[in-house]
Amino acid sequence: MNLEIREPDDMHVHLRDGAVLALVLGHTAARFRRAVVMPNLDPPLVTVSQVLTYRERIRSLATGRLDFEPWMTLYLHAQTTVTEIEAAAREPSLIGAKLYPQGVTTQSGSGIHDPLTLLPVYEAMAERDFPLLVHGEDPDPATDPFDREARFIDRTLAPLCRRLPRLRIVFEHITTAGAADFVRSESSRMAATITAHHLLYDRRALFHGGLHPHLFCWPLPKTTGDREALVRAATGGEPCFFLGTDSAPHPQNRKESDCCPAGVYSAHAALELYAEIFEEAGCLGRLEAFASENGARFYHRPLNPGRLVLRKVPWQVPESYPVAADYTLVPLRAGETLAWSVAGREAVQP
Ligand code: NCD
Ligand code: ZN
Repeated sequence: MNLEIREPDDMHVHLRDGAVLALVLGHTAARFRRAVVMPNLDPPLVTVSQVLTYRERIRSLATGRLDFEPWMTLYLHAQTTVTEIEAAAREPSLIGAKLYPQGVTTQSGSGIHDPLTLLPVYEAMAERDFPLLVHGEDPDPATDPFDREARFIDRTLAPLCRRLPRLRIVFEHITTAGAADFVRSESSRMAATITAHHLLYDRRALFHGGLHPHLFCWPLPKTTGDREALVRAATGGEPCFFLGTDSAPHPQNRKESDCCPAGVYSAHAALELYAEIFEEAGCLGRLEAFASENGARFYHRPLNPGRLVLRKVPWQVPESYPVAADYTLVPLRAGETLAWSVAGREAVQP
C-alpha cells in the first residue's frame, strides 16, 4: 500500500548544532520540505544576527537537500527589545519568536521568569503579525510536573490572550485534552503542534517495567484520556492542529545518566510514526492536512508543490546512531520494526 501526500513540514524541531547537526538535519530533510527550527542552543539565539548565522550553518550542511528550507525562531529573553522584534519580523526566514518560561526545559535558563512582563514585545509582535510560539508549562517549582501545562493556561496563556486579542500564538507540543479545548476556543488566532510521541505514549509508558529515559521529555506525557484526546485533535481534520515533532536529541550517555535531560529523538522516523497513528485511528486520509497544510496556512506560507510517498514496507530502526566518539543517539523505537517507510520526497520547482 502507498500513501502519497503533499510534501510535509515539521513545525517544531531541534536541529541542534555541532557534531549532531548533520545527522538530525539529514533525517529531517529526508522527510520534510520545511521545518520550524528551535532557538534553544547554548547560548540561546537571542538576536536576529545569531539566528541568521545559525541558519547559514544549517544551509551549508543541507547540501544533499538544497530545497530544504529552515524557518527560524528568535529566543525571547528578559532583554528582548521591540527593535529586535521589528528586525526579526522583516526577515522572511524568521517565522516567529519562542517563549520559554524560565527553567521549564532544556536551555530555558535564559527564558522568561514571568511571561506576562513582556507585554510591549508581544504588542510589537501582534502589530507585525509575527507569531508567538509558546512552550506552555508553568515555571513555578511548586507546580506538580504533571499539572504544569494546565497551570500555564490558567496563570499565563488565558490572561495573555485576553490582553492581546490580535497576537497569533502557537501552543507548542500540547499534551492534554484541556489544552486541545483551549486551542479550539481561541482558534481564530491560535494553533497547536502535536508530537508523535505524545500521540503514541501516555505517562504509563514512561514507567512500564522500569524507567525509560529515552521517553522522558517536557511536557511530560499525560493520561490515557489525554492521549486519546490528542489523537482526536490530530486526526479530526481541524485546521488549528498540525505536525510538530519536537524531536530533541541528547547524547545516549547523558540520557542514561543519573540526571537525564528531557527530549525524545524522533526525526529519524517522524512521518512513519504519524502514519502509524493515523492508520490506527482509521484516518490516513487526514494525514495530509495535519502534516502538509494546516501549519503552512497558519503561518501564512504557501503549500509545498512537491509530493511525498509513504509505503507500507517495514524497516528496522537502528539501536542507535553514531554521531561522534563520545556521542551516540538512541532514537525512538530503537531496534523495533516500523510498518511505514518513506519512499522519498520528490522536489518540484514552484
Ligand atoms: C527540548 C530540548 O531538548 O531542546 N526538550 C524536550 O523535552 N522537549 C526542549 C523543549 O522543546 O522543551
Ligand atoms: Zn521543543
